[in-house]
Amino acid sequence: MEQQIQQLRDEALVAISGASDEAALDEVRVRFLGKGGSITAFNDRMREVAKEDKPRIGKVLNEVRGVVTGAIDERRTSLVAEAESRAFAGVDVTLPGTRMLSGALHPITQLMDRAVRIFRRMGFALADGPDIETEWHCFDALNTPADHPARNEQDTFYMPDGRLLRTHTSTVQIRTMEGNPPPVRIIAPGAAYRRDEVDATHLAQFTQMEGLYVAPGVALSDLKGTLEYFFREFLGSGVEFRFRPHFFPFTEPSFEVDVRSPQLAGGRWLEIAGCGMVDPAVFEAVNGRRKDRAYDPEAVSGFAFGFGLDRLAMVMGAVPDIRLFTEGDQRFVGQFR
Ligand code: PHE
Repeated sequence: MEQQIQQLRDEALVAISGASDEAALDEVRVRFLGKGGSITAFNDRMREVAKEDKPRIGKVLNEVRGVVTGAIDERRTSLVAEAESRAFAGVDVTLPGTRMLSGALHPITQLMDRAVRIFRRMGFALADGPDIETEWHCFDALNTPADHPARNEQDTFYMPDGRLLRTHTSTVQIRTMEGNPPPVRIIAPGAAYRRDEVDATHLAQFTQMEGLYVAPGVALSDLKGTLEYFFREFLGSGVEFRFRPHFFPFTEPSFEVDVRSPQLAGGRWLEIAGCGMVDPAVFEAVNGRRKDRAYDPEAVSGFAFGFGLDRLAMVMGAVPDIRLFTEGDQRFVGQFR
């Protein structure tokens, strides 16, 4: 019997080394060590063994079971390793991986968010209006008559139905007053469009921030204080200001605001905003639409301002070409995380 057991061991070892995959190896295990396996069968046959031989034969049987089990485990390990190295053949694991890029807000959006936060601290609410506007909201209500050069077809994008892409965010002044009685204190960031030749300093679409404050007794000093506070927060406390008389159809008096700061554009004066006191003709246009006297120029007054965020972004980031903001080149926008 001992010899039979030894012979089974040899057969099992040959079968194990001949198993070419895990499934074949499992068959071998069942054949020899499974419930009906040929080595297992000797457990029952121990009964036939003479009492004095039992310890010896039992020991041999145990040893053989151990050797065969060990051989199966070893073979399985090497079969798994072979399968893996076949799966990875041709894969260069030393190549760099695919990097996951994290997103970020566009630099203009970041600036806009900062500007909005500063104005909100001063009690300005957010307002908006459509990019595709009526001539009324873009021009007529803003005291800009039909023969004004800003209304030239060459300067604006007109729709077949007569509407146009708004040339400034001042449209939102009108929409806000049409829809709400005073007091109003709003800012309106958004896109504006002009039929400009695109070059390093001009785009056909740009971003403006409009402001309007109307209430009884609003004065020019309120306008100055508001803009100076804003630009000091926005650009740094070292900025100097210049309010130059100017002309806009919808404000009277009107000003252009220049700022100067050692950190910006080499300390040059920069034209950054238009502003003024709301022209009574604008209030009357709004009253006409509202069919009331809510914006009676004898009872309320207000200021308005508007500035372009793209130009500010250029001087603040020392960006030489405005087109960089729209091209989506990650080498550029990635610098503003
Ligand atoms: N809308 C003017 C522009 O686009 C700016 C402005 C806004 C001026 C409000 C005065 C008051 O140039």
